[in-house]
Amino acid sequence: MNSFGVKFRFTSFGQSHGKALGCIIDGVPAGIKIDLEFIQEELNKRKPGQNEFASPRKEDDKVEVLSGLFKGHSTNTPIALVVFNQNQKSKDYENIKDIFRLAHGDFTYFHKYGLRDYEGGGRTSARESIARVCAGAVAKLMLKELDIKILGGICQIGDIEAKEFDFSYAKTSQIFALDKNLEEKQKNKILEVKKSHDSIGGVALIKALSCPIGLGEPIYNKLDARIAFAMMSINGVKAVEIGAGIKAPKLKGSQNNDELSCDGFKTNNSGGILAGLSNGDDIIVKVHFKPTPSIFIEQNTINTKNENTKYKIKGRHDPCIAPRGSIIAQAMLACVLADFVLLNTSSNISQIKKVYENNENSNIL
Ligand SMILES: Cc1cc2nc3c(=O)[nH]c(=O)nc-3n(C[C@H](O)[C@H](O)[C@H](O)COP(=O)(O)O)c2cc1C
Repeated sequence: MNSFGVKFRFTSFGQSHGKALGCIIDGVPAGIKIDLEFIQEELNKRKPGQNEFASPRKEDDKVEVLSGLFKGHSTNTPIALVVFNQNQKSKDYENIKDIFRLAHGDFTYFHKYGLRDYEGGGRTSARESIARVCAGAVAKLMLKELDIKILGGICQIGDIEAKEFDFSYAKTSQIFALDKNLEEKQKNKILEVKKSHDSIGGVALIKALSCPIGLGEPIYNKLDARIAFAMMSINGVKAVEIGAGIKAPKLKGSQNNDELSCDGFKTNNSGGILAGLSNGDDIIVKVHFKPTPSIFIEQNTINTKNENTKYKIKGRHDPCIAPRGSIIAQAMLACVLADFVLLNTSSNISQIKKVYENNENSNIL
C-alpha cells in the first residue's frame, strides 16, 4: 500500500538511492493558493545534514511541481510533487547486502519479497517521508483556509521529559525542543549517545488547534483510530497516545472526565476527541519513536544463508530520529484532518444543501 487517505489522498513513490522521491496528491479542492515556499520550508525542517543532531547526509531536498496547479492555485486535479536525490553513497551499504541489520526492515522484506533494496534502506528509508511532508504541507495550506493549525515539538529524549511546552520556542530549537530549560540536557543526551556510537529514542508532542466539532467517521474510522494509524505508519514509531494516553488507566473517572461548562471543556484528557469525533478542543497526540536502528557498535545478527555473523554499520545516520520525526508526525496529522474535513462535507444534509444554495464557485482566483 503506497497510498494514504480517502478523499485527501496521496500516493508516494521513490526510494533512498533512486533518482527521486515524491507524491501525487488527489482530492485537493480547487482554489487553494499552493505556496511553494511554504512546502519548501516544511521540507527544510525535515531534511538531514543541518546540524550535529541529525544524519550528516547532505541533501537540498528541493521540491518541484509537475502538475495540478494553475497560476499557483490548486485545480482539483492531481498535484504531483517531486524531490530529486543528490547525495547517495551506495558503497556504504555493500557490507550489509547479505546480512540483516537489527531493528530494520531487512529481515522481513527479504522473507516476504525474496529480495531487498539494501542501498540506503531502499523504500524502508525515512527518505520516503519526503512524500508525507509534501502532502502534509498541502494539507496544512488547505486547513489554513479553515483556520486549523498544526503545531509540534519534542517533549522527551531518552528519559528526559519536558515540563514546559512552548511550541513557539520549539520552532527555533535545533531539536524542536518544547522545554527551553531542558533543551540543553536533551541535546547533550543525543551527543552523548552519538559519541558512544549508539542512538536514543524520543517522543514528539503534536497538536491541532481550532478544529471544528465533528471531524471523524465512527465507528471504524474514528478520528483517534485514524490518527494512530497515520502515526504508526511512520518509520520507527512504536506507540501513539491521545490526550491523557497511557496515564488514563491510572486516573479515576472523576479525574479523567473533562468537565463541561458554557465556556467549553475545563480539561483536555480526551485529547480533543470523543467517540471518534473532534470535540472542538485541541487535538493532542504523543508519538513515541524508538532509538535509530543503525548504530556504530558491533552487533550479532544472521546473514541471508541463516549463518550467525557480526556486523558494524557504516554510513550516515540520525543519532535520534524523534526531532525529524516530529515534522513528519505533524504532516500526517494534517493529512488526516484534511481528509476528514473533505469527508465531513458529505455527512450532513443541511451542510450539503448549504453548498448548493451558495454556489459561488466562479472567480476564485
Ligand atoms: C526521520 C527519520 C529518520 C530515520 N533515520 C534513520 C537512520 O538514519 N538510520 C536508521 O537505521 N534508521 C532510521 N530511521 C528508522 C528506520 O527507517 C526504521 O526504523 C526502519 O525502517 C524499520 O521500521 P520500523 O522501525 O517502523 O519497524 C529513521 C526514521 C525516521 C522517521
